[in-house]
Amino acid sequence: MEIRKVGVLGCGLMGAGIAQTAATAGFNVVVREVSDELCERGFAGIDKSLAKFAEKGTITAGQRGEIRGRLTGTTKFEDLADCDIIIEAIIENLDTKRETYQTLDGLCKPQTIFASNTSSLSITEMMTATSAERQKRFVGLHFFNPVPLMKLVEVVRTILTDEQVYEQCVDFGQRLGKTTVRTSDKTGFIVNRLLVPYMLDAVRALEEGVGSITDIDNAMKLGLGYPMGPFMLGDFVGLDTTYYIAEIMFNEFREKRFAPPPLLKRMVLAGLYGRKSGRGFYDYTTDPKNPTPMNLV
Ligand code: 3HC
Repeated sequence: MEIRKVGVLGCGLMGAGIAQTAATAGFNVVVREVSDELCERGFAGIDKSLAKFAEKGTITAGQRGEIRGRLTGTTKFEDLADCDIIIEAIIENLDTKRETYQTLDGLCKPQTIFASNTSSLSITEMMTATSAERQKRFVGLHFFNPVPLMKLVEVVRTILTDEQVYEQCVDFGQRLGKTTVRTSDKTGFIVNRLLVPYMLDAVRALEEGVGSITDIDNAMKLGLGYPMGPFMLGDFVGLDTTYYIAEIMFNEFREKRFAPPPLLKRMVLAGLYGRKSGRGFYDYTTDPKNPTPMNLV
């Protein structure tokens, strides 16, 4: 079976980015959200991103129209029934995901591949909400924010993933214009396995007075050529998300390096989630392009 039609579940930041990327690669895409309003909000983000690419000359005005024409929004699961692959990017809640997969398993054709964009939940635990045949056609496809710009997709196999299906997903990731890496269903896969302890260590270094927010960020950015330092990146990813991933990884591995430090927990409790809430390690409320470091320790 060739992958032609792509279903995307969720039109938030990740879902919208995945849908845009698939449509840009020439696939017909149906995106499902819980309400028309959320769908419209997601599509507004896609339009903004496509406008940026058109402005830069990465795509022509004609291509922009074609890409947009390949994208359809819906609130009905039924509209995903004939998709060849469904990429799920909904809320990181295992029960909600399992319920969604169970519903889709009954609706979709037997050949449809199910792929989750989860960053930290177990693919195996989601997969068991579906039939034995579907379980062979269940993988993880982990994208990175901002999806249209970030070049990587982690292709995740479980111990039950069919070999051919897995290879097809690797090929699909490449057809999306991404570099693929192969990994297995161990919490955090490759990137978050290494990234999360690094980010948590940066918070510990701040707590211990090793350096200020600005100095630690500058050190990692300029000393290693990273696009962002660990605090700017934490604010970009979302500190609530980072905390949530760390908790899951700590529960899985029971290793101290995955344990969220007290400062991170308190920031999340206080609603300092990073860019999305206006404040995190930096304050974005006055000048979002030039945020000022917060006084946290
Ligand atoms: N669509 C189209 N263009 C976009 C865009 C989007 N969604 N987002 C940004 N751009 C464009 C900007 O318009 C800008 O264009 P220009 O060069 O013509 O001005 C260009 O990209 C660069 O953007 P900015 O000037 O705003 O800022 P930067 O130069 O810092 O680049 C960045 C932004 C690409 C986000 C870069 O900072 C970066 O690579 N940061 C690291 C991102 C990262 O690590 N992501 C992974 C997070 S971890 C994750 O997602 C996994 C999860 O499981 C936690």
